[in-house]
Amino acid sequence: GLEALGGVQSGVLDVAVASTANYFATRLLAEFNKRFDEVTVRLEVTNRAGLLNQLAENTRDMVIMGQPPEESSLVAEAFMENPLVVIAPPDHPLAGEGPLPFERLREETFVIREQGSGTRIAMERHFARHGLELRTGMEMSSNEAIKQAVEAGLGLGLVSIHTLGLERETGHLTVLDVEDFPILRHWYLVYREGKRLSPAASALRSFLLEEASALIEPAYSPARTVNGSR
Ligand code: PGA
Repeated sequence: GLEALGGVQSGVLDVAVASTANYFATRLLAEFNKRFDEVTVRLEVTNRAGLLNQLAENTRDMVIMGQPPEESSLVAEAFMENPLVVIAPPDHPLAGEGPLPFERLREETFVIREQGSGTRIAMERHFARHGLELRTGMEMSSNEAIKQAVEAGLGLGLVSIHTLGLERETGHLTVLDVEDFPILRHWYLVYREGKRLSPAASALRSFLLEEASALIEPAYSPARTVNGSR
């Protein structure tokens, strides 16, 4: 447990997170910082492809990503759920409808993330599993851009529920109620097998495994994942 790590005095912790994880990583690190205020955290934000490079080069103490590669040389531990949902502007004809058959998405255009994004890979796999061709519109390299584009009426979007902040409360975006959504994924902490974790890195690992979901997930309870209006 964390108590056992009372000896963590200081140190620098290099953490890299997926761009999507940035929405909650900063809140977790703020809480971590309260407990271990002598530890200096250096946070880098990049997409999945960037994280894979860093794991290959072993340049970070720890990486937080959506889906670890299937490589035996890595340790990957799930610490929190990561549901992906379909978002639409509130005046979209499908808003408030449902549950909609997955097939219904065939007629919709999606604004999508860039190549190298884990969200993009999960989206493509989910459509392929349903034998449905994904009709894509513009491509954008950030979740913020996707949300703005969806709000502007450029198409539907598919994002982690963690990226949705006030947009739902303020009525800028709504979550569509579609069969087989949310896509159920997890957040993982990943590091190279055999890596000797520093005391600070071990403390962060325990903190994530023991406390992250309790600190972050309540804001995204299932009752709120279906339809922004609920
Ligand atoms: P990303 O997020 O789409 O920002 O790469 C990581 C993931 O969800 O796997």
